[in-house]
Amino acid sequence: MEYLKPMEPTRIHSNGDSLFQDITLAPDIPVYATTAAYNKDPCPNKLHLGIGVYRTEEGKCHTLNVVKQVEQTLANDLSADKEYLPITGMPEFNKLSAELMFGSGSPAIKESRVVTVQCVSGCLSLRVGAEFLAKHYHRHVVYLPEPTYGNHPNLISAAGLTLKTYRYYDPKTLVLDFQGLLEDLGSALTGAIVLFHACGHNPTGVDPTCQQWEQIRQLVRQRGLLPFFDCAYQGLVSGNLDDDAQSIRMFGCDGGECLVAQSYSKNMGLYGERIGSLSIVCKTADVARRVESQLKLIIRPLYSNPPIHGAAIVTAILKDRDLYKKWTNELKAMRDRLVQVRRQLYDSLCNKGTPGDWSHIIKQVGMYSFTGLNKDEVDFLTREYHIYMSSDGRINIGGLSSKAVPYFADAIHDAVLSSLPSSTLA
Ligand SMILES: Cc1ncc(COP(=O)(O)O)c(C=O)c1O
Repeated sequence: MEYLKPMEPTRIHSNGDSLFQDITLAPDIPVYATTAAYNKDPCPNKLHLGIGVYRTEEGKCHTLNVVKQVEQTLANDLSADKEYLPITGMPEFNKLSAELMFGSGSPAIKESRVVTVQCVSGCLSLRVGAEFLAKHYHRHVVYLPEPTYGNHPNLISAAGLTLKTYRYYDPKTLVLDFQGLLEDLGSALTGAIVLFHACGHNPTGVDPTCQQWEQIRQLVRQRGLLPFFDCAYQGLVSGNLDDDAQSIRMFGCDGGECLVAQSYSKNMGLYGERIGSLSIVCKTADVARRVESQLKLIIRPLYSNPPIHGAAIVTAILKDRDLYKKWTNELKAMRDRLVQVRRQLYDSLCNKGTPGDWSHIIKQVGMYSFTGLNKDEVDFLTREYHIYMSSDGRINIGGLSSKAVPYFADAIHDAVLSSLPSSTLA
């Protein structure tokens, strides 16, 4: 056999420059930059209220006891294998996840009109849904609430869909801009896709009431809009999984079509397991079957098939009456802590006489509070008090412990006073 001499390295750039020389430095992603800054800060009182992760009173990562219990069982199951799942994930996980959102008696499920596929957490459930719509739906425009979860525009536009916004929140009154929402959806392009947060709107913590959802539903159906729900906080708003799915169930049982991206990151604390699902409610079982076949073609080149572990945990909890009960009890306790911390923060600000009306903190729901603090006040909190949060004034109530509330209230008080014109302080 002829001896092959090692080839001389080909010199493409005679000056030795990288082939990637022209790449520009991308800006930091704000929520990760905030976390990095927090991690570097040596101050013992520092607080991280930026990232959407529920923590314990001790500020530690919260792994649910029911999840730990299931993981022990899974680890002891020597018959479990690690082979690939089907492209659409674990069938039992899909069935139980659909029932959790649409209700076990859902007519759409009974009539086999719901397609559910296991996806890689909430983010990829949204992305797979967006890719599906880009490929198979005639209208390529998505209306997002203003404001919305920071990754929504990335996930939706990455699929090639065009973004528009609808009014959702009134920054002056700090409540839902219901009139603005109705006007904007009333004049949206016919057939356009509309993204809704099923409950616990991120970042505002402001949700429509049941009556308002019903009005929205009627308008959406009259105008032929296609609703796409993002369900990332089921159970964390009211403490009840059924109540928090009301918006989805209204649309899921009216005979019309809709999409739902679901995440178990927050309500089961499975953040790093990346477990969620995408459901598409169709008009007929036959359409649903064809939709499912096309979803496989969307998923195959994205990640081929989803991971096992998170789906195994969720399935074990959803299918066992005792484990389900344990989960709902823990979820209720998490939700009750959110309500208690909100109340404590509100009381502290009132007791201190911090200028302004802070009642929105206790009216808002779920994990987040849109405090109404402006960027300068947020910068002040970080600079003077080592408190890290989004520059839009959103805080993660789930990241705040009762112990830390007095410190946080002092900091807000100071920030608000320091931003008032000196004439008003006399
Ligand atoms: C509204 C909303 N949707 C989706 C997600 C993404 O969640 P996941 O971690 O499951 O991808 C988040 C995360 O914060 C969120 O707030």
